[in-house]
Amino acid sequence: MKIAVPAEVDLGEPRVAATPDTVKRLVGLGATVAVESGAGLKSGIVDADYETAGATIASSAQDALTGADVVLKVRRPTDAEIPSYKPGALVLGIMDPYGNEPALQALANAGLATFAMELMPRITRAQVMDVLSSQANLAGYRAVIDAAAEFGRALPMMMTAAGTVPAARCFVMGAGVAGLQAIATARRLGAVVTATDVRPASKEQVESLGAKFIAVEDEEFKQAETSGGYAKPMSAEYQAKQAALVAEHIKKQDLVITTALIPGRPAPKLISSAMVASMKPGSVLVDLAVERGGNVEGAIAGQVTDVNGVKIVGYLNVAGRIAASASQLYAKNLFAFLETMIDKQAKALAVKWDDELVKATLLTRENSIVHPSFAPKVEGAVQ
Ligand code: NAI
Repeated sequence: MKIAVPAEVDLGEPRVAATPDTVKRLVGLGATVAVESGAGLKSGIVDADYETAGATIASSAQDALTGADVVLKVRRPTDAEIPSYKPGALVLGIMDPYGNEPALQALANAGLATFAMELMPRITRAQVMDVLSSQANLAGYRAVIDAAAEFGRALPMMMTAAGTVPAARCFVMGAGVAGLQAIATARRLGAVVTATDVRPASKEQVESLGAKFIAVEDEEFKQAETSGGYAKPMSAEYQAKQAALVAEHIKKQDLVITTALIPGRPAPKLISSAMVASMKPGSVLVDLAVERGGNVEGAIAGQVTDVNGVKIVGYLNVAGRIAASASQLYAKNLFAFLETMIDKQAKALAVKWDDELVKATLLTRENSIVHPSFAPKVEGAVQ
């Protein structure tokens, strides 16, 4: 059982899919692990750390991948990478499958069994494998750090001989995993924090972190959570009421962190250009939803934009901006899932293809796209 950890080829991806800790655990399960030289550098891990943990260091991706039964990745393998993979190999990564069917077909054509970690069901057994939570938590933290870095004032109130610096006001929109961590981080830094969400369950969580909850709490709000715990798209009427509330509140804010997402849909637009224009110069907005279209009008993916003195931060891959921690947690998520596919007695791969976690995440296998959400629709089939 050979496991390969190639370096990520995307220059915007500083994370790595294994750490010395997970390598050691994999070796303990009977695997041989080959790590491409330099794969961990951007996450602060040198080759020697992997070697001490029991890995061999491969001088190239090709060397690492030759004969590998499992490949651990952060991002989906590109068309240029795929030819180095062994047909039949298991590939675990963040596969970004929505709207990328041709790329999935290429993985299928290469005979790879690919698993999209972001499709992991959010059930108790799989919490340790939940890459969305592990990475969103860090992104929420980093968003506040980025906001603080762009802000020309201090966050905590400071009483000094030369005068009093007021505490910054921070508004967090979307109180899911990222938003709750943003609230906690802004509070730790001394800001006065308010937050909003459309899910009623979030109110208590926001308040338990010491922030004030602000939302249109009408009948629709009471029904806004799906059985899976996610937000529903809200009606135009609700959105108008929400916008009026936000417009009034946002004028007084120094920092705004937006994290609002609805699974499988573009991010809801929560902040208009007029709202941005109403903010004081020097204020900072960080749009964590920018990869999915953004919550803030005028946010540009990968850039910090200055709109009349108000900064809109649209960094991509925000978890990657805190790469060492992100890799540590991501690698553990991958290990926990892969461990369920290894027979500990036989020290060999033994994938249970009918396991619910496997079925939920498996995109391609045996030259086909097998995931029901992405498989080509058969003409004339009953839907
Ligand atoms: P997400 O990333 O899909 O969305 C982020 C937040 O945006 C959500 O809280 C959502 O309600 C909010 N939102 C959507 N539309 C909005 C709007 N128009 N205005 C304001 N806010 C809006 O969600 P995330 O962070 O991945 O998780 C959401 C919830 O899922 C968690 O709070 C939790 O209850 C549940 N969850 C459960 C887990 C488990 O293992 N059981 C693990 C992780 C999350």
